[in-house]
Amino acid sequence: MCGIIGYTGMEDSVPYLLGGLRALEYRGYDSAGIAACGKDGITTVKTRGRIDALEEKINSSSCKIEGHCGIGHTRWATHGAPSDVNSHPHRAENLALVHNGIIENYHEIEETLRAEGYDFVSDTDTERAAKLIDHCFKKLGDPIKAIFEATEIIRGSYALGVIFDAHPGKIFAIRKDSPLIVAKGKDGCFIASDIPAILAHTKDYYQLSEGVVALIESDKVSFFDKNINPTEQKLLHVDFDVEKAQKGGFPHFMIKEINEEPEAIRKTVSSRISERSLPFFGVDMLDGEGISKFKNIHIVACGTAMHAGLIGKNIIERLARVPVNVDIASEFRYRDPILGKDDLVILLSQSGETADTLAALRHAKSKGVYTLSIVNVIGSSVARESDSVLYTLAGPEISVASTKAYSVQCALLYLFAIRLAYSLGKISEDEAKALCNSLLHDVPVYIEDTLKLSDEIKSAASEYLDFEHLFFIGRGIDSALCTEASLKLKEISYIHSEAYAAGELKHGTISLISEGTPVIAIMTSSSLAEKMISGIREVKSRGAKVLAITTKEIAENYTIPSEEIITVGCTDELFAPFAVTTCFQMFAYFVSALRGNDVDKPRNLAKSVTVE
Ligand code: G6P
Repeated sequence: MCGIIGYTGMEDSVPYLLGGLRALEYRGYDSAGIAACGKDGITTVKTRGRIDALEEKINSSSCKIEGHCGIGHTRWATHGAPSDVNSHPHRAENLALVHNGIIENYHEIEETLRAEGYDFVSDTDTERAAKLIDHCFKKLGDPIKAIFEATEIIRGSYALGVIFDAHPGKIFAIRKDSPLIVAKGKDGCFIASDIPAILAHTKDYYQLSEGVVALIESDKVSFFDKNINPTEQKLLHVDFDVEKAQKGGFPHFMIKEINEEPEAIRKTVSSRISERSLPFFGVDMLDGEGISKFKNIHIVACGTAMHAGLIGKNIIERLARVPVNVDIASEFRYRDPILGKDDLVILLSQSGETADTLAALRHAKSKGVYTLSIVNVIGSSVARESDSVLYTLAGPEISVASTKAYSVQCALLYLFAIRLAYSLGKISEDEAKALCNSLLHDVPVYIEDTLKLSDEIKSAASEYLDFEHLFFIGRGIDSALCTEASLKLKEISYIHSEAYAAGELKHGTISLISEGTPVIAIMTSSSLAEKMISGIREVKSRGAKVLAITTKEIAENYTIPSEEIITVGCTDELFAPFAVTTCFQMFAYFVSALRGNDVDKPRNLAKSVTVE
């Protein structure tokens, strides 16, 4: 959700800014811009559209932008339509500024500044913030003091990068509830919204703490607290390299990331299995007796991560018999959830920066409940603020549609369920070990076998390109899988789809099934196979065209009355959701790609939603 980059160093900043923006384009892509501070002060180039459009504008003869220090931005519009004038950086008399987040009191700020003689050219909250800092700077004469004074007034979320005409070579940055990292590379220093933007230059970075201003110079970075005293930030290291954040021969990040699922699961699961072949989390509350004290579990997340929570609910309740609620993070705190002292709140988030998930975490903490996060981005806000964190080791996920992050979230929830069931005596040590073994060794193979069905899945997908509506049906855990299958298809193909518990369809929605309506039936549970077959018959007798996605065992033992069947290779039903997931992710991918859509950057979406 908006990408920020800043570079100051020995080289011309423009190629660094464009390179950083390309790596961040998944965060928002309706407009882009850069500002550089050269001999003649700050120059800005910005445009509606993608980074390619920005580069074209920069290369056109009418534009001249250069300087060793600059900031850049790729936007996901919140205030004001995507347009040249609403694009960042925003200019004030003494500075240029880029922003990620939402400034809630921008109207009030505008009124105050208008009384001081300020005018506004854009519809954005950001321009108000830029002019407020400018106003404070004129009064105080010092950038750091001005930024602190302005952020005392600003309400909302922000990551800000600011350059001042009077301070060439310096970038100032601050953040609240929006991510921002600071890094020192060989040729200069950086600010960025996310790690992929700096990976080509360094693997070491600082996650900027809230309430701290970072001063970035060509050869050093320093940090200041509210009293303008120097303060320290912890240096973090990321162990993936630049190739991991590139397409590596695949046409899109999404299909590359689906193909990385086996490796991501092996890495993640092996990092959490002890020498005794049991789950080991390295957290007292989870490894010892502590875990068995939790009487209720709440899983809270957004989007795809929330759907992983639905899988977690099924597995935890099945193996450990502990009740699990799954909440949409944006609803959680507003419904005033009943949280007891023996409850556990699990936050799931790929980015660790989703505003609603972060707010839900803070709500749970304010109620004194133990919080555990399952997060992919090391050092992110959700990871840092929760009582304990388990990292998924999926590597960077660039495609807006989440795939491998979902699979590893599910894998960690399986491990958690195994640990809890074992601690509660619901399964024996041998059973726990066997389950861990399957998760670590068999699941990646099931996924690899599904990946080999690529041609078959593509051919099935090619028959769904012209539909406007589609249904996914399943029962039990399969109905949870359907929610994610449906979301995946919707977000990248723009085909409307609904996920329905197969048994519920007849209570109203079956009225939408008519001649030729496409229905995809997900079937991994043999105990529910006959019920699913009845459900398929019900829709077929109303004219539906049915594609079944199922396991070999079910396909061999039942006659499924569907037009087409995709059979995933999987010998253990408990783990079949992983193989089916890869299948429906590829299905959605091929539908989108064959429709000619921009698979990795679907319209209106952003990877990391850092506004409420
Ligand atoms: C956005 C993304 C989704 C993602 C959701 C939660 O909506 O487009 O793909 O599932 O945010 O993101 P998180 O980083 O918290 O997992």
